[in-house]
Amino acid sequence: MDDTAIRQLIQREMAQTEALMQAEMRAEVPLAELVMQYAIGDGGKRFRPLLTLLSCGLCGYRDEHAITAAAFIEFIHNATLLHDDVVDESALRRGKPSANIAFGNAASVLVGDFLYTRAFQLMVRTGNSDAIAMMADAVNLIAAGEVMQLGNMHDPDVDETRYYRVIELKTAVLFAAACKVAGLLAGLDPAQSERLAVYGRKLGMAFQIMDDLLDYTGDEALIGKALGDDLAEGKPTLPLIRAQQQLPAADKARLRHIIEQGEREAIGEVMALLQATDALSYSREAAARLADEAVQALASFPDNDYKTALTALAARTTERRR
Ligand code: IPE
Ligand code: IPE
Ligand code: MG
Ligand code: MG
Ligand code: MG
Repeated sequence: MDDTAIRQLIQREMAQTEALMQAEMRAEVPLAELVMQYAIGDGGKRFRPLLTLLSCGLCGYRDEHAITAAAFIEFIHNATLLHDDVVDESALRRGKPSANIAFGNAASVLVGDFLYTRAFQLMVRTGNSDAIAMMADAVNLIAAGEVMQLGNMHDPDVDETRYYRVIELKTAVLFAAACKVAGLLAGLDPAQSERLAVYGRKLGMAFQIMDDLLDYTGDEALIGKALGDDLAEGKPTLPLIRAQQQLPAADKARLRHIIEQGEREAIGEVMALLQATDALSYSREAAARLADEAVQALASFPDNDYKTALTALAARTTERRR
């Protein structure tokens, strides 16, 4: 099933989600609306609401709160991005200057807060206390992941265990929530809802590994972000962790120094070091394995178009260029 066919499955629900997000971006403060429109209005793959709507389809949940959930999930995602670009000092997002560049750090942080809290208002509307509790935990864990990552910056000793925990928290938790919320709204038994969470978590980890690879190997025009942002921050992502295990002593010392310093200008040199090892293919294979595990988690769901779509999305994770 290709992307067009997948999007077709939930076309009406996605249009309703866009309309609800538009309505919920209204604020008493013009600056808040301006920043939200700029950041969310017409950008992003809408991957997480896609997961929510497909998961709702898989669970046979057709109530209006499928739309509510898709919207609050995408609001949370965009709140994390507004904060993330401040923290990462990133200048480009979705192919244009990031909100922190266009409006400043203060506006990005505060409008991020506005979006987080608007998302919680939407959650309450579902009246589903299991869903609200799950989301409260998820949002807290995402924040924990970002703080944990902050502690790993410029530290070349970060190993795979620490790396995986960060990406699980900062990224995969929201993917898991995007899927599991469907099970909770549909009232599936807890074990079945948890399988949706496992699918989302594995997929989210694969997605973040690919994001970390694309920070070195991607095409800026496609990803809409600047390459080398991670290196500039001294962020020890999987390719750098793997390369350290394989490089001869002198090269390893040089790579560790670059991580400690956070040298964006060294990106060419780092690419050469990565290519001297299996770091790029190793990372892609790690993502592929996780994507496979994601698909396996759906085994007990009935075969239908929604399951085919979720399976195809996972299977294509390692092919993504944007
Ligand atoms: C970016 O997410 C943040 C990560 C978790 C890597 P996306 O790649 O889904 O960003 P948009 O929403 O499509 O811009
Ligand atoms: C993901 O990490 C961001 C969040 C989950 C908040 P990145 O910092 O790698 O995301 P991008 O690359 O800026 O989109
Ligand atoms: Mg970032
Ligand atoms: Mg970040
Ligand atoms: Mg990134």
